Amino acid sequence: MDKKSDFKPYSKPHSTVIVGAQWGDEGKGKIVDVLAERSDIVVRYQGGPNAGHTVIVGSKKFKLHLLPSGVIRGKRSLIGAGVVLDPLALKAEMEEMRAAGVKITPKELGIAYRAPLILPTHRLLDGMQEESKKGKAVGTTKRGIGPAYSDLALRTALMFADVFAKDWPKKLEAAVFAHEEILEKMFSIKIDALCRKSIKELEAIPPFFEGFQANVNLEVTDALDAGKKVLFEGAQGALLDNSFGTYPFVTSSHPIAGGACIGVGVPPRSIDRVEAVVKAYCTRVGSGPFVTELSGKVADELRQKGGEFGTTTGRPRRTGWLDLVALRFSHRLNGFAGMHITKLDVLGGQPEISFCNSYEIAGKKVTEYPADPLATEKAKPVYQKMAGFGDLSEKEWAKVAKEGKTKGLDALPKNAIAYVNKISELSGIPIISVSVGPERESIIFAK
Ligand code: GDP
Ligand code: IMO
Ligand code: MG
Repeated sequence: MDKKSDFKPYSKPHSTVIVGAQWGDEGKGKIVDVLAERSDIVVRYQGGPNAGHTVIVGSKKFKLHLLPSGVIRGKRSLIGAGVVLDPLALKAEMEEMRAAGVKITPKELGIAYRAPLILPTHRLLDGMQEESKKGKAVGTTKRGIGPAYSDLALRTALMFADVFAKDWPKKLEAAVFAHEEILEKMFSIKIDALCRKSIKELEAIPPFFEGFQANVNLEVTDALDAGKKVLFEGAQGALLDNSFGTYPFVTSSHPIAGGACIGVGVPPRSIDRVEAVVKAYCTRVGSGPFVTELSGKVADELRQKGGEFGTTTGRPRRTGWLDLVALRFSHRLNGFAGMHITKLDVLGGQPEISFCNSYEIAGKKVTEYPADPLATEKAKPVYQKMAGFGDLSEKEWAKVAKEGKTKGLDALPKNAIAYVNKISELSGIPIISVSVGPERESIIFAK
């Protein structure tokens, strides 16, 4: 029997997929950075530069878009074939990270040969497609995500491997020409000077990426066989999944755990665990149904205190109470072994905290997320309330827990413990950790 097909069940979890359980920006970057300390490889499996993962280390703030969050700890960081790669955006990000003192050589970073490319014309197409939708625009990040995945599905995409082909300039020219036709015929626009300049830069890019090509699927398979620990870093969130999210207000990839297999090229049996990152309340950027969305004082307080402005686009995020109907759906799609609850501190100071455990649709109580994506637009939240808790950051709860003065979550005020336990009880997802600040240290692991 072929060595690779001789599967050995792992005694301890070696492969963990980290998934955003809501609409993105749950704090995946922070959690992956914390978990990366005890991992050997971090691999991104989908999405592209639409992602914005923040990692705070001391006084430094890193915003990662295409680079896996493990790169900050110098861990082997891989970009899988499921990621749409914008070489110009990645080059800029690598230069920025290097300037901030992060080492990125082919030793730290490997990029799948098959990662489909985002070209400057994909970005133009993204903008034009959005504009043509008028009032029904998705509110994309305009990073060319949808058009690049469309080209992959149409079998017209260029891939990272093409950058190193002898006839790269010709391939690029042909792909740009095809986009030009669409832009002119469908949207009556010509490629502007800025886009032309980017295409020229892209033509000259091969030497910058020489050596970063990696056989990501073989490398991950070999690492798992050797008992190494691999973190699969998801981007976006389960409710933005192309098939199961709030379609059509979704992204064009599969952030759900199943996407990790396709995006890296490993069989389902090689995934040991799936862990959720769950924000203690909800946010969403862009259009689409958001049943528990708030407006007014509490919405603004959450936005300000939580710094809820897009990491990639700077747009203000829509804010609302925690939606447990949606979280249970997310759990069904992903099968979470546990969750990391983030940003609990942002709720500190609210006299009361509401959460939604059921919807009302056409006068009926609904506890399961509707299968019909249009039904969520008509859903009204049914709220339950709990007593609030004070400012968590003031008391340095994480430090108290770390110093062993209390056990795990017991370091938190009683009402905060009651809230997170309620989330766990109603979602059915065990708590792994609770975050009470953006820093690495501000995390309390449940005992
Ligand atoms: P990601 O896309 O899931 O990685 O999340 P983002 O980085 O886009 O957004 C999460 C934001 O919340 C970032 O600014 C983080 O630094 C910050 N953050 C993460 N965890 C916590 C936390 O527990 N408390 C607070 N106050 N901020 C947090
Ligand atoms: P991270 O990884 C939050 C949203 C956009 C838009 C929709 C489609 O940081 O959590 P796209 O550009 O993907 O075609 O936009 O998806 N979106 C995100 N929202 N966090 C993200 O990434 C997102 N990436 C895309 O706002 O509504
Ligand atoms: Mg983000």
